[in-house]
Amino acid sequence: MSPSEPAAATGTTSPTTAEARPRVFSGVQPTGDLHLGTYLGALRQWVEHQQDRDSVFCVVDLHALTIPEEIDPQRLREDVRRVMALYLAVGLDPERNVIFAQSHLHEHAELTWLLNCVTPLGWLYRMTQFKAKSEGRESVGTGLLDYPVLQAADILLYDTNVVPVGDDQRQHIELTRDIAVRFNHLFGEVFVLPEAAVPEVGARIMGLDEPTVKMSKSVARQRAGHAVNLLDDERTVRKAIMSAVTDSGREVRFEHASPGVRNLLTILQTLDGRPMDAIVAEFEGKGYGDLKKAVAGVVLDALRPIRERFDAIMAEPGGVDELLAAGAERARAIAAPTLSRVKEAMGVG
Ligand code: TRP
Repeated sequence: MSPSEPAAATGTTSPTTAEARPRVFSGVQPTGDLHLGTYLGALRQWVEHQQDRDSVFCVVDLHALTIPEEIDPQRLREDVRRVMALYLAVGLDPERNVIFAQSHLHEHAELTWLLNCVTPLGWLYRMTQFKAKSEGRESVGTGLLDYPVLQAADILLYDTNVVPVGDDQRQHIELTRDIAVRFNHLFGEVFVLPEAAVPEVGARIMGLDEPTVKMSKSVARQRAGHAVNLLDDERTVRKAIMSAVTDSGREVRFEHASPGVRNLLTILQTLDGRPMDAIVAEFEGKGYGDLKKAVAGVVLDALRPIRERFDAIMAEPGGVDELLAAGAERARAIAAPTLSRVKEAMGVG
């Protein structure tokens, strides 16, 4: 089989696609808590599809080390636990999905080295995220350049078919495929070629204070009122939503609505579940204040149980750590055989 064939064809060699469920891999950096945009745009779909997908969720703490000036060791360790607890709190089942922390497996770092040796430097210098993140820095660590190879290792270790990502990550998935194709060409068919997937459904939630840009973790860290974090208290949530940017109009419509009003309606519709027409009809003759109150209501209703489950999981002695350990063990059961295949093909180990 030619290594340049699409993943669907190449995937037939994968031990995981014997079952019909595609292997899905997703990574999230443990920097701060998750927000409403991630919840509505991604997590909710993952919960909904946990029966028909074979999903691996990785908290990528090694990726959080690439800018050493920003590492806060205690905080990093705690953030990994919080992201784990949040995943469970939104409803991801640790039995059905593999949920674990990247650094708990040596396989990720080890495969990165092996992949480094087949990755031309030029491919890494071209990456737009590297260019953006290294720009203006006095000192740039090798890890920042190597970041996408570690990401490729994450994905390839699990014979991944599908990687659900935002647009900004497309180039990283392309690179992963290029590395896999090159490896397979040099050493034989070892890797499954992954495919990027921009989530089929899923609302694109915009910043509350700037509804023309996607709600973003990094902006949220700089500006209160940009995002609603899943663990924000009631007052903070209300305040962010009530001060969301709208426009100078007054009437609630969806067609021709400004980005801010459209964003509020999208949040409401996604959580409420009724068709948009029905929601807009309900607000006929009412103003933005009423709309915002309704949005705050459904958001708070959605976040309350998440918060309660989060607190319960964090309060259980050993709870999160045990789940992380169990997740690592299940992850290793998939990753270790892949790494062995790679080492065998390269003549080491
Ligand atoms: N680079 C991704 C991001 O910043 C995080 C990530 C690391 C990832 N490894 C991954 C995403 C593997 C998908 C698959 O969002």
